[in-house]
Amino acid sequence: MKAARYYDRGDIRIENIEPQALEAGTVRVDVAWTGICGTDLHEYLDGPIFVPAHGHPHPISGEDAPITLGHEFSGVVSELGEGVTDLAVGDHVVIEPYIIRDSVDTGPESKDYHLSPDMNFIGLAGRGGGLSENIVVKSRWVHKIDKAVPLDEAALIEPLSVAYHAVQRSGVVAGQTAVVGGAGPIGQLTAAVLHALGVKVIISELSPLRRQKALDAGVADVALNPAEVDVVAEVKKLTDGKGADVAFECTSVQVVFDTLMDAVRPTGVIVVVSIWGKPATFDMHKLVMRELDVRGTIGYVNSHPDTIALVESGKIDLKPFITGKIALEDLVDKGFDTLINHNETAVKILVSPSGKGL
Ligand SMILES: NC(=O)c1ccc[n+]([C@@H]2O[C@H](COP(=O)([O-])OP(=O)(O)OC[C@H]3O[C@@H](n4cnc5c(N)ncnc54)[C@H](O)[C@@H]3O)[C@@H](O)[C@H]2O)c1
Ligand SMILES: [Zn+2]
Repeated sequence: MKAARYYDRGDIRIENIEPQALEAGTVRVDVAWTGICGTDLHEYLDGPIFVPAHGHPHPISGEDAPITLGHEFSGVVSELGEGVTDLAVGDHVVIEPYIIRDSVDTGPESKDYHLSPDMNFIGLAGRGGGLSENIVVKSRWVHKIDKAVPLDEAALIEPLSVAYHAVQRSGVVAGQTAVVGGAGPIGQLTAAVLHALGVKVIISELSPLRRQKALDAGVADVALNPAEVDVVAEVKKLTDGKGADVAFECTSVQVVFDTLMDAVRPTGVIVVVSIWGKPATFDMHKLVMRELDVRGTIGYVNSHPDTIALVESGKIDLKPFITGKIALEDLVDKGFDTLINHNETAVKILVSPSGKGL
């Protein structure tokens, strides 16, 4: 079958590989759609980061580069391994793409399995990936979805879960105001979760298309252009001089973090969602004098049932964020190139590994 394999920085190849063997407790999923994530771009430009470099196998998966890419995907169950009783052939599913030790409690009450040692992701550190025609996944990580949810939209449930967990980390409640710095896919979906919870959303984003997208999708109340306006002054105006209750940093850009530190009220919370490839600077005095909270967030933890319910109930519509659909062969030339060099023209680009959906 065809798969996109990450060898090293700047080296992704479309190859023919053997499908994985079905084992007890696993299911085979025929992949429908797979999103290209900012993290995939980081791997291509600056990696390997999450990918175990060749010769350095991941301690849980035992695999090293080349690995199959793709961790945001939807599909249809095509084969059941021995002992799998909660899924059926033909089910529409999304994957929670974790690689976690079998000894870790990943049950429905766990709040921290995503923080267990050596946690990594399917599609980055082994165990196949969504950028291939099919994948074999342990049934624990397979979530059934209603067939009324189109499979292309369902591919966005993984990044939506990132957004959902980030919003949970903030502690925001309905009626409060949030500022989202950066309206790429992660910022847009964070705004979508906030909006669905009844939070007022102010977005700050350089790209006109992405600002307009957030307004058209109805997930932002206000979209500011930081090249033209003083974001801190505007946020103060919109909050009776107080500042926002919470802020989400979705850019890994220093000036955005600094702006958010000033845009929140005293005792405000800043959640850093983006992945930073280098150390940031930090005004500790500001943190102390205004009693601010700066919090990290990674992935999701038992978030998929809630995000799937938000999508199935129509409270969140993922369709507006899909701006392109491409074949696997065009992954680098059309997908990565657009997102790296012309990201103002796109939000989420989906890949059809089998070519069937195109
Ligand atoms: N924490 C997690 O679990 C997790 C999961 C997935 C992705 N991420 C990370 O989240 C980050 C965002 O992902 P994405 O796919 O949305 O990335 P992206 O690059 O598409 O979006 C970043 C946006 O920030 C905007 N921006 C840049 N400078 C700005 C400025 N000065 N003011 C306002 N906006 C500015 C850009 O125009 C762009 O739209 C990435 O770092 C990604 O790796 C984190
Ligand atoms: Zn991702």
